Amino acid sequence: MHVLVTGGAGYIGSHTCVELLSRSDRVTILDNLSNSSLEAIRRVEELGGGRVNFHKVDILDRTGLEDVFEQNIDTPFDAVIHFAGKKAVGESVEKPLLYYHNNITGTINLVEVMEQYGVRNLIFSSSATVYGEPASLPISEECSTSACTNPYGWTKLMIEQILTDMQFARPEWNVLLLRYFNPVGAHKSGRIGEDPNGIPNNLMPYITQVAIGRLKQLSVFGDDYDTPDGSGVRDFIHVVDLALGHVAALKKFTDNPGCYVCNLGTGKGYSVLDMVKTFSEACGREISYKIAPRRAGDIASCYADPGKAARELGWQAQYNLRDMCEDSWRWQQQNPEGYGKQD
Ligand code: NAD
Ligand code: UFG
Repeated sequence: MHVLVTGGAGYIGSHTCVELLSRSDRVTILDNLSNSSLEAIRRVEELGGGRVNFHKVDILDRTGLEDVFEQNIDTPFDAVIHFAGKKAVGESVEKPLLYYHNNITGTINLVEVMEQYGVRNLIFSSSATVYGEPASLPISEECSTSACTNPYGWTKLMIEQILTDMQFARPEWNVLLLRYFNPVGAHKSGRIGEDPNGIPNNLMPYITQVAIGRLKQLSVFGDDYDTPDGSGVRDFIHVVDLALGHVAALKKFTDNPGCYVCNLGTGKGYSVLDMVKTFSEACGREISYKIAPRRAGDIASCYADPGKAARELGWQAQYNLRDMCEDSWRWQQQNPEGYGKQD
């Protein structure tokens, strides 16, 4: 299978490309490297044991996109996994137009060029954020999607709607909307992992940077939620499990599923304080933390009903919280500055 992976140099994309390469899929990455580096692609090749065909292209660049499809016309793409997008919640509040333009216009460009070249199998990186404040737990695909609390979340919900409408109008298309819960962890080798720009917004990279001494102390945002220990509860999923979820989803195209929605989560909720404790045990260091006020827009608890993925994709997460912590720590220890400035 020849797979085009947009955003393939990024955190989830790089792990997915390793899994694709190691099962001998042909992999083409398209990425503008705005939040990633060439070094990640070199390491993907090292771990996957194969070559990646890389195009430094922005999905906003229509001609650049067409060139990628044109250059691959003799071995056309069987499917596109579309990870490319901006994902920083706080930045999206400050720069909403940047987010709407990059994520939505970029996706429309991609889909138009796919149609132009007759490539009609698409996997889109959606998010549990589309469920907003969930009406019930665990969250199944039938739960209503609702008001998002930030422009980033709206881009995911709007793109889901756009792709659903597009597939309805063109039934020959297959669109898989995969809703990720909270990806953490890194490849077992410690060679690839999450490399956020600046001070991390997300819990795991913040904890790893406290552990390595780059940051002083974690703020735990709220200890008065209606959860077992008062801190927020999330469905943390190992990024390698998530990558394998994409590999499993690719097989779904053979059933011509039309427009298909599926959660990718573990089904288990762990609290922020559970994570701090487990990480501390995994790295053998105390993680300094203080209790801080709730963060605006956060919900108390969020975890998946992962049953549909198990039944229909034959996929379920294998790694536990301890694995996630050990692997994140290995990546951080071996790469204290992330990928650094090798480019
Ligand atoms: P990431 O930032 O590491 O990867 C995204 C990649 O897309 C980067 O390599 C970046 O350079 C590239 N990119 C961004 N805009 C682009 C553009 N205009 N043209 C070409 N390339 C562009 O993020 P990630 O964590 O790997 O997330 C991948 C996808 O999954 C994103 O769409 C994200 O919104 C979604 N997602 C992530 C999470 C999470 O917590 N990490 C949760 C749910 C959904
Ligand atoms: N948290 C802290 N301190 C921090 C960072 C986070 O206490 O420094 C807490 C949050 O309050 C929350 C939990 O850790 O309770 C998880 O927060 P993250 O920022 O790591 O993740 P979110 O659940 O807020 O959101 C993430 C992604 C979204 C995605 C969502 C669901 O950032 O893009 O998971 O997939 F939509």
